[in-house]
Amino acid sequence: MFHLIVCALSQRLKFSDRNMLEDKANPRCSTLILVFLLLVLITDVISVSGNSVNTDRKILLNLKSFLEKQNRVNRGRYSEWNQGSSNPCKWHGISCSPDMQRVTGIDLSDSKISGEMFNNFSAFTQLQRLDLSRNTLKGVVPDDLNSCHSLVYLNLSHNILGGELKLTGLTSLQKLDLSTNRFHGEVSFSFPAICNRLVVANLSMNHFSGRIDKLFDGCLNLQYLDLSSNKFTGNIWTGFSRLVEFSVSENLVTGPVPAFKFLGELYSEKLGFIRPIPSELGSISTLEGLLLGDNSFSRVIQESLLNLRNLAILDLSMNKFGGEMQEVFGRFKQLKSLVLQGNSYTDGLSSSGVHKLTKFVSTGLKLQQFFWTFTG
Ligand SMILES: *[C@@H]1O[C@H](CO)[C@@H](O)[C@H](O)[C@H]1NC(C)=O
Ligand SMILES: *[C@@H]1O[C@H](CO)[C@@H](O)[C@H](O)[C@H]1NC(C)=O
Ligand SMILES: *[C@@H]1O[C@H](CO)[C@@H](O)[C@H](O)[C@H]1NC(C)=O
Repeated sequence: MFHLIVCALSQRLKFSDRNMLEDKANPRCSTLILVFLLLVLITDVISVSGNSVNTDRKILLNLKSFLEKQNRVNRGRYSEWNQGSSNPCKWHGISCSPDMQRVTGIDLSDSKISGEMFNNFSAFTQLQRLDLSRNTLKGVVPDDLNSCHSLVYLNLSHNILGGELKLTGLTSLQKLDLSTNRFHGEVSFSFPAICNRLVVANLSMNHFSGRIDKLFDGCLNLQYLDLSSNKFTGNIWTGFSRLVEFSVSENLVTGPVPAFKFLGELYSEKLGFIRPIPSELGSISTLEGLLLGDNSFSRVIQESLLNLRNLAILDLSMNKFGGEMQEVFGRFKQLKSLVLQGNSYTDGLSSSGVHKLTKFVSTGLKLQQFFWTFTG
């Protein structure tokens, strides 16, 4: 800016000095002035179309007064908004883009909010993260939320929201947590529509119903799917074995593999040292699934695990097992799925007898995983 003024001044001086005989403008100056005018124009256009941190600030203040109207007594920290600073990027629970020009995240979790959901979140056109968990929100999710196309993270867990779920517009979503609410109806309105980038989906503890056996086939990035404690029916989804974690316990799902009780989480923390799989696990006779992938267990597999009569899935993928495949795996006759991908076996598929296990759900899939083991 300063440079521009100097440019303009020196040009005027030139004009008066030389009595306008030589009225060639300094070409460098004119370019700068042109750029300046362009910048002014662009800034104008942007603020007219409403995309600035100031617009976001106004909508946040709408949100604040909406919340204050519904919650006259107990209020969360949103009531401090606009008190210390007028810059919304500094307000509690608000995050902004790196250039501080747009609001990209709103965290109102645990904020003592009751009543209906705000129905103008779509006015934050760059909103990527929205966390409204642990409040007492009731009613339905407004249609407006479906227009938040940039949302990557949505957490509505631990509220009393109800109604049917139609989230077809949230196609950028990577993490979705709707657990512990009162949603009902089929989830086929939302899946696979929003599957594209989804990594985590938690729908547990609701009243969802309907079949699930095909809905998640297209969710190729999905790693954690929790459908537990609902009223889902039909057959179990057989694609689950490629997930890191899957639970459909406490539903009405039937089929070739009944509802699983997974212990995966219990032992999946990475302790950083090599230890054997606890032999005590062998005494939990009801155990149907044991997911111990991505760990550093020692390669000695306790024989006590053979006692698990109901064990249908055993996942010991990515445990850094090397050498020949452990002979004991060939004796897990009860298994429907054995996942050993991501280890560094050199051989042993037939010498262990694993290739002869007969109960596998989908032989094609399992064989593929074994090949993967040997070649990669
Ligand atoms: C949502 O916010 C925008 C921007 O402040 C405003 O123009 C619009 O009227 C609001 N819509 C609703 C339904 O409140
Ligand atoms: C959602 O919020 C709850 C409660 O605040 C939290 O425990 C949970 O981890 C969150 N879910 C995800 C997927 O981040
Ligand atoms: C899903 O949410 C429930 C309750 O909020 C929680 O207990 C469970 O661990 C979550 N599941 C996953 C896979 O994060």
